Amino acid sequence: MAEVRLRVNGADRRLDIPPQVSLLDALREHLGLPGTKKGCDQGACGACTVLADGERINACLALAVQYADREITTIEGVDHPLQEAFVRHDGFQCGYCTSGQICSAIGMLAEHKEGIPSAVTEDPPAEGEELTDEEIRERMSGNICRCGAYNGVVEAVAEVVR
Ligand code: FES
Ligand code: FES
Repeated sequence: MAEVRLRVNGADRRLDIPPQVSLLDALREHLGLPGTKKGCDQGACGACTVLADGERINACLALAVQYADREITTIEGVDHPLQEAFVRHDGFQCGYCTSGQICSAIGMLAEHKEGIPSAVTEDPPAEGEELTDEEIRERMSGNICRCGAYNGVVEAVAEVVR
């Protein structure tokens, strides 16, 4: 067992868990935070996306012990205009991917603000350029939605950035 001290949604949490426990399992099964979803458990779907110091990560690929000094934010700790925008634009159907989509979108907006380019960004990136729908689709392409609510997701993100 390893003693792991995590900071999650602004609170200090202490766990005694085997060192191989993923951050996703630590959140869901040990800290009672089931909002972060397990889809593939191998880094392919984005359902488990959380923020670590504001950066989006796949919690299924992270060991909890590696994140001891980081500020973790899960959907339970999110209060962002994107949430209402998703409702307004039907950015979900079953909702299984939604917490990951929203955490990912928050991280993505921060990346864009920092000037981090995507695969479809012009080279060099135009300063202060708004996110186009093409950019939103590319930057959110790591988050799979089996219900196919992609158009609503793009509209919701676009509403918030414009
Ligand atoms: S559950 Fe982590 S990427 Fe699919
Ligand atoms: S809303 Fe069902 S998987 Fe995305």
